[in-house]
Amino acid sequence: MSSVVSHQMLQQIGLIGIHADLIRHADGDDLAAAVAQAKSNAAAIEEALGGVNRVLRDLLVFSRDLRLNLYEHRLADVLAECVEECQAQAAERAVTLRLECPAEPTVVLDKLKMKQAVVNVLRNAIEASPPGSWVVVRGSTRDGWAEVAITDRGPGIPEPDRNAIFTPFFTTKEQGTGLGLAIAREFTEAHGGRITVESEEGTGATFVLHLPLRPAGWGSGQHAAR
Ligand SMILES: Nc1ncnc2c1ncn2[C@@H]1O[C@H](COP(=O)(O)OP(=O)(O)O)[C@@H](O)[C@H]1O
Ligand SMILES: [Mg+2]
Repeated sequence: MSSVVSHQMLQQIGLIGIHADLIRHADGDDLAAAVAQAKSNAAAIEEALGGVNRVLRDLLVFSRDLRLNLYEHRLADVLAECVEECQAQAAERAVTLRLECPAEPTVVLDKLKMKQAVVNVLRNAIEASPPGSWVVVRGSTRDGWAEVAITDRGPGIPEPDRNAIFTPFFTTKEQGTGLGLAIAREFTEAHGGRITVESEEGTGATFVLHLPLRPAGWGSGQHAAR
C-alpha cells in the first residue's frame, strides 16, 4: 500500500518540480508571453498540490485510530446529518437526496467514524448519478442489526470490479484517491459490521452497511447513553 502512495505522491511532486523549473528558467524578449506561461505553470503546480492534498487527507482518515468511541444514537439523526453534509454536492450536480428511516430505532456506534463511512458511500453515489436523478438513503433495523442502504441510478459497477472497489487506491476517477470505500469498509468492520454491494450494470448500485445494533464492547460499563 505504501508503495502505491509513494508512487502517486512522487508523480505529483515530480510535476511540481518540472513546472517550477520552467518558471525559473523562463527567458525571451516577450514579457507578456513569459508571464502567461508562468501563470499556466503555476496553475499546473496548484493542481498537482491539490492531488497531493487529497491523498494525504484521505490517508490521514484511513490511518486513524480504530478504537471506537461508542454511544447510543438515533439512526435517523445520524443519517440526517450525513445527508445534510452531502446536500451542497448533490445540488451542484442536480441530484436529489431522499432519506427514509423510522424515527425510533437507536444504534450504538462511533458517530464520527460511521458518518464518515456513510458519507464516503453517499458521495460516490452522487458522483455516479446522472443529473436530475435521485439517491435514496434507507435506514432500517431487524434482528439485532441496522442496515443503511444507499441506492443510485448511475452506471452501476462492472462485475469484475465488485471486490476491487473496496481495496485501497482502486479508482476509476481522474481525481479519485481510491480510499473512500476502503475507509468505509474499515470503519464498518471495526463495529463488527460489513458492507455489501448489489449492482445491475446500467441501472445503478446499492451499497448496504450492516451494523450490529449493540456492538461487542458496549455495555461494559464505561459508556453512558447520549
Ligand atoms: N455508486 C457507485 N457507482 C458506480 N461506481 C462506484 C460507485 N461507488 C464506487 N464506485 C467505484 O468504486 C471506485 C472506488 O471508490 P472510492 O474508494 O470511493 O474511491 P474514489 O471515489 O476516490 O474513486 C470508484 O472509483 C468507482 O469506480
Ligand atoms: Mg469516493
